[in-house]
Amino acid sequence: MPLLQTGIRNACSANRCLTRRTNTKQLKARIIMAKQLHYGTTAKVFHWLVVALLVVQYPLGKFMPDIHRGMKPGDAMTFHISFGITILALIVLRLLWRITHPVAPASSLPAWQQLVSEAVHWLLYGLVLATTMTGWIFASERGWSIRLFFAIPLPTLPTEGSLLANSIGKWHGTMEWALLLVIGAHVAAAMAHTFIFRDRIMQRMLPEKPTVVRTKGLKPEVVVMKPAQDGV
Ligand code: HEM
Ligand code: HEM
Repeated sequence: MPLLQTGIRNACSANRCLTRRTNTKQLKARIIMAKQLHYGTTAKVFHWLVVALLVVQYPLGKFMPDIHRGMKPGDAMTFHISFGITILALIVLRLLWRITHPVAPASSLPAWQQLVSEAVHWLLYGLVLATTMTGWIFASERGWSIRLFFAIPLPTLPTEGSLLANSIGKWHGTMEWALLLVIGAHVAAAMAHTFIFRDRIMQRMLPEKPTVVRTKGLKPEVVVMKPAQDGV
């Protein structure tokens, strides 16, 4: 791990200086290692897209008219289901991306915090999946035919009238609260890192910032600093 960390610091602080000191092969190897230690643009885009959609989805769910047996879904419900299925598609893609592009937890954190944050992240994935799937099962059990954003017909799950689907669908309400609770803890942790511990955890999920590096004898250079793993 110290070797990795040195690699990152070197690779991050002044790419041009490093090229002079090491050969290209070593540089490439270090950059590849460094990449696995941070979230890339795709992971960040997925993260913030899902956040934005959830910000719309919760109020939409709360303010749409209550559902009664035999009722047909109105416009608000069609939007709710459309946003929900979009979230489901994004979280599946994001999970696939995450599994194929693993990211190490921030090594600046004590082992227990690394463990807890990993557990919370996997729980968030699980709860988003559970919330969206229970919603979809609920809608399918009612035999609703929904058009995604009033355009594309949404396939329903083969659960119309099933008793099991009916009871699973009822879990939608519980799942959405459980998800909200875990999101609360996750956001509180992110805020604590930003405003109390003042480390660079938040930076791991934000766009990379270009920084001017001044090296004696060389022209100032704009480089993109990768978020550090060790709190620097
Ligand atoms: C993560 C995504 C989702 C969130 C956060 C969410 C949230 C909510 C919320 C807050 C409610 C109101 C429940 C209440 O008043 O207690 C609700 C109801 C509902 N949602 Fe979702 N939803 C999501 C995804 C979906 C999906 C994908 C579908 C269907 C394909 C769906 C179908 C429904 C239905 C049918 C209701 C009314 C029945 C009920 O109250 O349980 N939802 N949702
Ligand atoms: C304002 C709200 C949010 C902030 C400030 C925030 C911040 C962050 C930060 C800083 C990380 C990186 C943590 C690390 O490197 O250890 C992260 C990761 C993550 N966040 Fe959020 N987050 C927010 C909302 C959400 C929401 C609503 C979800 C719900 C799905 C979510 C799901 C995740 C997941 C699953 C990861 C782990 C990514 C991975 O390892 O694949 N976040 N978030």
